[in-house]
Amino acid sequence: MKLSEKNYKVGVVGAGLVGEELVRILEERNFPMLELRVMATSCREQEIAGKKRKVIETCRSAFEGLDIALFAGTEGDSGAAQLYGWQAVEDGVFVVDNGSDFRMDSRVPLVIPEVNAEAMSNHEGFIANPNCSTIQMVAALAPLHRHAGIKRVVVSTYQSVSGTGRSGIRALADQRNALAKGSTADAGPYPYQILNNCLPEIGSLKSQDNYPGYFSEEVKMIDETRKILDDPELPVTATCVRVPVDMSHSEAINVEFENQIDVKTARELLSRSEGIEVRDEPENSKYPLPSDAAGTDAVYVGRIRLDPSRPNTLDFWCVSDNIRKGAALNTVQIAEKAIDLGLI
Ligand SMILES: NC(=O)c1ccc[n+]([C@@H]2O[C@H](COP(=O)([O-])OP(=O)(O)OC[C@H]3O[C@@H](n4cnc5c(N)ncnc54)[C@H](OP(=O)(O)O)[C@@H]3O)[C@@H](O)[C@H]2O)c1
Repeated sequence: MKLSEKNYKVGVVGAGLVGEELVRILEERNFPMLELRVMATSCREQEIAGKKRKVIETCRSAFEGLDIALFAGTEGDSGAAQLYGWQAVEDGVFVVDNGSDFRMDSRVPLVIPEVNAEAMSNHEGFIANPNCSTIQMVAALAPLHRHAGIKRVVVSTYQSVSGTGRSGIRALADQRNALAKGSTADAGPYPYQILNNCLPEIGSLKSQDNYPGYFSEEVKMIDETRKILDDPELPVTATCVRVPVDMSHSEAINVEFENQIDVKTARELLSRSEGIEVRDEPENSKYPLPSDAAGTDAVYVGRIRLDPSRPNTLDFWCVSDNIRKGAALNTVQIAEKAIDLGLI
């Protein structure tokens, strides 16, 4: 980020996992702030990113005087983005939203700064942060796409419970504790116990008319990848699975290209790309792990290999912290890019 001459009044909406990480990252990166205002559903004091902080109740007037609002306040009708997002824009606040409510809205750029920052030039004051599993996949695909042109993507995900917010982390911890005591705990936000399980159900089956049988997380990966890569017909298919891991999502990606690409070139392209780290020494059991990625900023790629069953096709393994690059970090990077581009 270039040095900014201005300091900004910044709002963080939501004090859950992503809201807390937004506060931590804004401070870690010395975001140029004159004020940091944290909002949630109720007014209180709360320990956030190592400090007791005042949290105020979200309402239209709570945005008064802000330059930027970073939303992480739940999706849907009762979520903060639907209730207050566009009101804040009307009141002159630049909004970046983590949720899915407006990602496919034609007024709203869907941005990974390293991939499609140029999409921000047509903004109407509201930018959407892509879905966590989409961000890490597209960040890794983009340099390969620029080189060889993607023809088709097949992805299977292994997503951590932190993707469900604080309730997911709590459910897995309660189930572990219960098992240690020889009892059982509630399934929490999941249809079944997540401990010792893999659940091939993330999101809802409702309103997926164009994709019968797909859950909404899978549809997000398909639609959002097409929007970010600006190719509405790009063939993409996804199977999203929740696994009993606390932090970081993992993905097995199979990608077919229009043109020839070899493993060495793919490794070089990825190694040179901003925000990507290649860990690819399978002979020494070195590849990306969710436990290594947790708390860090990179998108990690490894196990890069040619798929012998199809021409011009690679398989690789991709891991990233879903709360950082998959949510809060990408959101802050969008705000930083908006400042660099003179949009705020
Ligand atoms: N977790 C992830 O991996 C991830 C990744 C990408 C995007 N996201 C998105 O980011 C958002 C937050 O996720 P999270 O994991 O932080 O969830 P979370 O831990 O459940 O926290 C949700 C926060 O939203 C607040 N909230 C709910 N309704 C609100 C409203 N109407 N006005 C203001 N605040 C409201 C809650 O307030 P109270 O504290 O007062 O209850 C809570 O602080 C969601 O939209 C989610 O889809 C999450």
